Amino acid sequence: MKIICFLLLLANSALANTVLITGANSGIGFALVNKFLKEKYNVIATYRNDNNSKELLDIKNKNLSLIKVDLLNKKASLVIKEKVGDHPIDILINNACFYPYKVSKINEKLSTQEWLDTFLVCSIQPIQISETLLANIAKSDEKKIIMIGSRISSTTLNTSTDNHYNNGYGYKSAKAALHSASVILAKDFKKKNIGVVILHPGRVLTKIISAPNGTELSPDNSAQKMFDIIKKIKILDSMKFINEEGKELPF
Ligand SMILES: NC(=O)c1ccc[n+]([C@@H]2O[C@H](COP(=O)([O-])OP(=O)(O)OC[C@H]3O[C@@H](n4cnc5c(N)ncnc54)[C@H](OP(=O)(O)O)[C@@H]3O)[C@@H](O)[C@H]2O)c1
Repeated sequence: MKIICFLLLLANSALANTVLITGANSGIGFALVNKFLKEKYNVIATYRNDNNSKELLDIKNKNLSLIKVDLLNKKASLVIKEKVGDHPIDILINNACFYPYKVSKINEKLSTQEWLDTFLVCSIQPIQISETLLANIAKSDEKKIIMIGSRISSTTLNTSTDNHYNNGYGYKSAKAALHSASVILAKDFKKKNIGVVILHPGRVLTKIISAPNGTELSPDNSAQKMFDIIKKIKILDSMKFINEEGKELPF
């Protein structure tokens, strides 16, 4: 059924621009799927587990196609490429990531394997997926890669009093690596006129937040803000790290 939808989407390719969103079953990714569908995009959404993706799987919209892939699979980018084929991708949103909540002190609880897994999903896969889909993005109208970054992984903010989060070795270092690798990718892709922007979604009430403090945005609100920013982004913005209000953040 879903494969048939995918073929339909490819057949409709000339009618609308296409966004590919990873980690689309939950939180911000799911809200982005709904926002882009509302804006009449073709949406290719990746998820990894049928059991916790019911809301995504239940969406009835001919412009939505699904790819089931676990980003712990080192060949995940090839799985995605195989499904997407030569279809142009206007906007790639590398959203999937997770926060291993066991990390107050080094060696205390975070295992080496968990840390490696965090790097694979949150830093390495976004770059590999972007590289693997280069030809698809290059032939699109919009040519944008969005890396969902995180303000708490800003080294500058971490060394100032501004950032009070003192734990998070795995997540924060993996996102910092993503920020850094994305700048290299941005330089590399600029000559192909493809923009790479690192976007902090705001503090958003999702399952990644272990202790909500009441100031969080809703996923829909964050997705709305990010949509507005993504639409405004120009190639000149490539390499920037910006927040949900469009303000530039330090790395
Ligand atoms: N919420 C915030 O305040 C905040 C702030 C800054 C940055 N961010 C970033 O925003 C993005 C979305 O996070 P969220 O807040 O919406 O949290 P979330 O609801 O937990 O979403 C994370 C997504 O990543 C997916 N994912 C995790 N491990 C994966 C794997 N091995 N393979 C494939 N997909 C995997 C999850 O799938 P499953 O549901 O199957 O696990 C889920 O779809 C993340 O990059 C996060 O770092 C969030």
